[in-house]
Amino acid sequence: MANLVPKKYNFSTVKGITKKQLEEHYKLYTGYVTKVNEIWGTSVDAKSFGESNPTFSKMRSLKLGETYAVDGVKLHQMYFENMTGGNNKPTGGILNLIKRDFKSYENFLEYFKSVGLAMRGWAILAIDPLDNKLHVFGSDAHDVGAVWNSIPLLILDVYEHAYFMDFGTDRKKYIDTFIGNINWQVVNDRLKKYNMIKTVMVSLRTLDNTSIYPIWNLSDNE
Ligand SMILES: [Fe+2]
Repeated sequence: MANLVPKKYNFSTVKGITKKQLEEHYKLYTGYVTKVNEIWGTSVDAKSFGESNPTFSKMRSLKLGETYAVDGVKLHQMYFENMTGGNNKPTGGILNLIKRDFKSYENFLEYFKSVGLAMRGWAILAIDPLDNKLHVFGSDAHDVGAVWNSIPLLILDVYEHAYFMDFGTDRKKYIDTFIGNINWQVVNDRLKKYNMIKTVMVSLRTLDNTSIYPIWNLSDNE
């Protein structure tokens, strides 16, 4: 039986989004935690699933629910973490990478907002080991559009449940409010972890050249 416990967040630091909206959103998150515990607590006895089928079967239901719930937990944890705690001024390594990969901070914001308006679930700023560059991925649901081995740095929830109580259909205003609440220190800390892993991978290459493939695409001089 899995025993995940919902994480706590200091919603009192969030400006422009009501406590009620945030608390109702948090309730949805705790529901995903409960479901992950339930799903990961189910039997792995293969015979208990009967015959599997891609249209309808016990195993299919479990696997669809599993990715939805697990991604729902992870995405909400990163979202709540990167919108609480202050530190709202973009700075440090992430700002440098944004300017490198998106021309300017202002252009990045416009691009990020545009992805948030285009999708039904999530806008995700990530750094990908394939090219070691920033990308904004879009997702229509927790379990749709995930990119394997990509490291998420900044998560924006654009499900209607994230803003409808406060903003109605004005998603643009919600996204602007979210951007004003981004904790850039959290984003920078995630980037630092990526760089630490990358450093380890580079050092491992001298021991075992195959160990970094295909997760990391590094040039010979890295
Ligand atoms: Fe959400």
